[in-house]
Amino acid sequence: MNENFTFAHLSDFHLFSLKGARVRDLLNKRIYAYLKWRIHRFTEHRADILKALAVDLKKMAPDHIVITGDLTHSGLAGEVVEAEKVLRGLGAPEDVTVIPGNHDNYVAAGGSSPFRSLSPYMASDSPRRTECVAPDLSCHFPTLRIRRHVALIGLSTARPCLPFLAVGRLGTAQLERLAPLLDETGRRGLFRIVLIHHPPCAGMMSWRKRLMDLDSLGRVLTGQGVELVLHGHTHRSSYRWIGQPRRAIPVIGLPSSTALGRTREKLARYHVYSIPERPAANPFGVRVRVYSSASGGSFVEEPFSPPGHLVIGRF
Ligand SMILES: [Fe+2]
Repeated sequence: MNENFTFAHLSDFHLFSLKGARVRDLLNKRIYAYLKWRIHRFTEHRADILKALAVDLKKMAPDHIVITGDLTHSGLAGEVVEAEKVLRGLGAPEDVTVIPGNHDNYVAAGGSSPFRSLSPYMASDSPRRTECVAPDLSCHFPTLRIRRHVALIGLSTARPCLPFLAVGRLGTAQLERLAPLLDETGRRGLFRIVLIHHPPCAGMMSWRKRLMDLDSLGRVLTGQGVELVLHGHTHRSSYRWIGQPRRAIPVIGLPSSTALGRTREKLARYHVYSIPERPAANPFGVRVRVYSSASGGSFVEEPFSPPGHLVIGRF
């Protein structure tokens, strides 16, 4: 067996469907999501790019796939059905790890929220025994999946919020559960990867799209240590770090993996990470796969070029 663990990071599909939607399903914040879709997103998030993505993933054959939220555009039941279909095409729930984004939990729903049907892809290896009655499953987070020498720790920042806001919040209870989880997985010598929809770095998002408890999260991450943080939400490529330079935690963000994007940094892409079992000089490697219309609508390799202070390898 290859001693490296490989996984693909995808994000922000924004699957849209009005199938089965009733007028009353749209008479809330979703009306803004619908209008936004009509105005420009339907030209951005494209089915042919999603298809090309699935083809390229088959070729790259990573050991695992992670998706950092916004699978759906407004959490409508038809969109969730679509999301389930796409996920089944990507792999079994144990091979694909999903966390929610703000668009997946767009409006407050009752106990029968369609969001729950994605739970097999979000669940921990050993789910907590307490029954989670919250429709958005917020009490299940943080989740923990261990794949070989890697711990995948999923967070949920997805909380319904007012129209024109796209803020995220972890909440005290989730942060209190995160600290011991990082401590325990660190003691076991696992390579800890935190998956979060909203970026945990200051200055990356406007006030109305920010992570509200960013400072509290930063204290937990830098206090306990973590090897890598991956996020979505920004719809653009980004390479940052948090903490002191000598113990910097890399924070890497992706644009949507299915959007044509209006600039190069917003063009559909995904990353394939390679995590060595025994960390060497380079803690991990990254391959960048970018959508290219010029290459017949397929994903092609692009050099990974983070800022110089990020010590990240290639493979
Ligand atoms: Fe998004």
